Amino acid sequence: MTAPFLKAVPFLLAMAIAGSSPAWAADPAEGRRIAESWCSSCHVAADRGPGTDAVPTLQRIAADPRRDPGWLRQWLNDPHPPMPDLNLSHAEIENVVAYLQTLAR
Ligand code: HEC
Repeated sequence: MTAPFLKAVPFLLAMAIAGSSPAWAADPAEGRRIAESWCSSCHVAADRGPGTDAVPTLQRIAADPRRDPGWLRQWLNDPHPPMPDLNLSHAEIENVVAYLQTLAR
């Protein structure tokens, strides 16, 4: 009776693991979209750009070795003035941090 169901389990697990963008994995492309719509009004979000002294470009932030993923997560959870708290969700923060890692290279 249970055999057909049990046979399906490894298949379903494989599907879940092979899925193109599982919900729990950080997605840099999604992070880029968030950065372009949420951060670019202040930070230059594209790969290069002049930015200003008051607001560093995301590229410059990403390239700063002191701004590692742990530091960035903490900042985005609780930014200090003059940067406003954007109330990003946990998943949004992970995606933005993943995007910043691609800029750091
Ligand atoms: C309303 C303008 C504004 C928006 C929108 C904004 N920021 Fe900022 N952000 C700032 C300012 C201004 C600072 C500089 C704060 C300082 O240096 O005291 C800053 C600082 C930062 C820092 C720290 C830089 C450092 O090295 O100290 C990070 C990281 C950062 N922003 C990321 C982001 C990300 C990611 C987004 C989008 C999700 C975002 N910001 C959206 C204005 C903004």
